[in-house]
Amino acid sequence: MSEPSDNNNESNINTILFKNVEIPNLEQFKNLQQQQQPYQQQQKHYRPPYQQQHQKYNPYGNRDTSYNPYRKEEGRDSLRQQQQLHFIKKQNELVSSHYDNKQNTPIHIRAQSKIISLKNINNWVKSMLIQEYTKPNTKVFDICGGKLGDLQKWIKAQIKSLIVSDISLESLKHGLERYNQNLNYIPFDMTMIAVDCFSSKLLDVFPKQPKKLGNKPKKTNQEDLSESEEEEEEDDDDDDDDENDELLKVDLVSCQFALHYSFRTEESARSLLKNVSSVLEDGGHFIGTIPNSCLIVKKLRESKSNKFGNEVFKIEFKEKEPKFSAFGCAYNFFLEDAIDFLEEYLVHIDVLTELARDYRLELVSHSNFHDLIYEKSKSKSSHDLLRKMNCFNSNNTISQAEWEALGIYKTFVFKKIGENNNSNNIKVDQVNKDHKAKSLSNEDIIVNL
Ligand SMILES: C[S@@+](CC[C@H](N)C(=O)[O-])C[C@H]1O[C@@H](n2cnc3c(N)ncnc32)[C@H](O)[C@@H]1O
Repeated sequence: MSEPSDNNNESNINTILFKNVEIPNLEQFKNLQQQQQPYQQQQKHYRPPYQQQHQKYNPYGNRDTSYNPYRKEEGRDSLRQQQQLHFIKKQNELVSSHYDNKQNTPIHIRAQSKIISLKNINNWVKSMLIQEYTKPNTKVFDICGGKLGDLQKWIKAQIKSLIVSDISLESLKHGLERYNQNLNYIPFDMTMIAVDCFSSKLLDVFPKQPKKLGNKPKKTNQEDLSESEEEEEEDDDDDDDDENDELLKVDLVSCQFALHYSFRTEESARSLLKNVSSVLEDGGHFIGTIPNSCLIVKKLRESKSNKFGNEVFKIEFKEKEPKFSAFGCAYNFFLEDAIDFLEEYLVHIDVLTELARDYRLELVSHSNFHDLIYEKSKSKSSHDLLRKMNCFNSNNTISQAEWEALGIYKTFVFKKIGENNNSNNIKVDQVNKDHKAKSLSNEDIIVNL
């Protein structure tokens, strides 16, 4: 196999990337998308419950009507609350213990993994997203950031500060180790939070804005007395917004390979989106990667049983014909060397898009990994990075099984829209190259589990 020439063209990239693999070129992708259309149209007709509730659906004006199991309720609601909390606790324990038990694999062992190309290409896709949407000297929130697998990408992006949260305290500890080991190269400070990110507990402990003097003018006694009941009610309504005003605002939120866990219920999906929106500046982006539900459904329908996959990944539904509900459509997922039949939930991109609008998050783009790899690798620098990140095996290609596994993922990008629909609060300063990161200990992790 020859090395790629400097003036890469499409076919050259294809031959290098996909030798011995059935090349899914753009034409094939289009066919595939057409085959998926009946399913996507079916999704369009689905009217999620939140839309039925709101006769006048105002994408940017809705108050959050989501049920919050952490808020104290009375009577019958209290029983519902207890059941819900029990369910959340059990599911969270399953997920966190799965990730808690994963050890940090030394680099030389990692390099021997059967799916090393797949892992590296996953990382390359994340790099593409991060490079495109991260401006130097900005604040970033890596939600469900696990063992800080994206640390090098944040270093390269020259960010100003990083907040990482995850439900797995052990994963965060591994991440902290990695951070301390790279201290000399890290130009930013970091905050770590162990918490269920699909709950309101995240905002309870999220860093606050540095206090600005004279921010809120105090009311005079006279003004207090003349306040009408109506005004008081409005004040009550604004409580949430006031709390959010105090939260530190970040310029980018990144949620990699994790948002699908929140789709177990509408409440947890809403909580995640509310959290993201509450801490994101107007004009900031919310980027991430999730399983591609259209492709998963297509593959399930093609399969003779309730499961499909290959030697590197397996997806198993409870039934052959599950109800493709908007939330809680569960399947067990196995990924060689990574995930051992953990329950995940389909994320229908249309449902995610509708839901996100309630939190002023507008879909900018989404793409399946195959399309993205094909498109991005047309650029020389991106293609060079593929090679630099060791995305190919010794034959300079990747195995059919890994390529198939890559196809089950997609990327998404949302943008937070300001109240008046056009504001953009992102400010970019000069990068402070002299900034020295501080070493952290496990006690520095904020724990709210
Ligand atoms: C596949 S890992 C991805 C980690 C990291 N984002 C990355 O790309 O390397 C999924 C992560 O989601 C985290 N997670 C799952 N449910 C969560 C929840 N409710 N709150 C916070 N983190 C959660 C897991 O602990 C795990 O670290």
